[in-house]
Amino acid sequence: MTKLTWYGHATLGLETGGKHILIDPFFSGNPSAPVSANSVQADYILVTHGHGDHVGDTVAIAKRTGATVISNFEICNWLNGQGVRNTHAQHLGGGFKHPFGYLKLTLALHGSALPDGSYGGNPAGFLLTTNDGKKIYLAGDTGLFGDMQLIGDEGLDLAVIPIGDNFTMGPEDALRAVKLLRPKVVIPIHYGTWGLIDQDATAWAARVKAESGADVFVLQPGKSFSL
Ligand code: NI
Ligand code: MN
Repeated sequence: MTKLTWYGHATLGLETGGKHILIDPFFSGNPSAPVSANSVQADYILVTHGHGDHVGDTVAIAKRTGATVISNFEICNWLNGQGVRNTHAQHLGGGFKHPFGYLKLTLALHGSALPDGSYGGNPAGFLLTTNDGKKIYLAGDTGLFGDMQLIGDEGLDLAVIPIGDNFTMGPEDALRAVKLLRPKVVIPIHYGTWGLIDQDATAWAARVKAESGADVFVLQPGKSFSL
């Protein structure tokens, strides 16, 4: 079984194959985070891109837990320089069979500079095939792009996509993304953290259900979805 927990903003916890995986662990300074960085478990940490609201507490959590951080090559190098020992670098289009499943980096239309201004390579999303065959797409911060059609061709059980607008897709483009991705279930993230990215996720969910047929789960921070 796989359980996905939303910790507000773009921070997610995934339990699958007996492993605890954190994605973009932004707890400190995240007004919507229901728990603190020093209370979460991690065997792996996945980082989509270099921005502060995604790298977040990666260094502190990796040092405390010994978790392996999976990200692009440039971010893994930077993390090594911050004293993070265990990293696994991949890059766009490349997949690897980890103990928790097969993880592929997908493209994302965004930026990726690190908090200290270092080059963060290209931003990414993640496509995970769990050990029991579930396909989960974590889009990361991105604008709409046509190759979401190709990602959708893989047959998605779940897509986790941003809807906040301003920095990423907003509701209109996120609806178009769902039509390209054709997932069974959608979970919206990267909204509501600050006024700049406030959205009515419930209204968006109703539109998506009516126009795409996908089920939408609007989570509250700290709540989980199991598949
Ligand atoms: Ni970003
Ligand atoms: Mn962001």
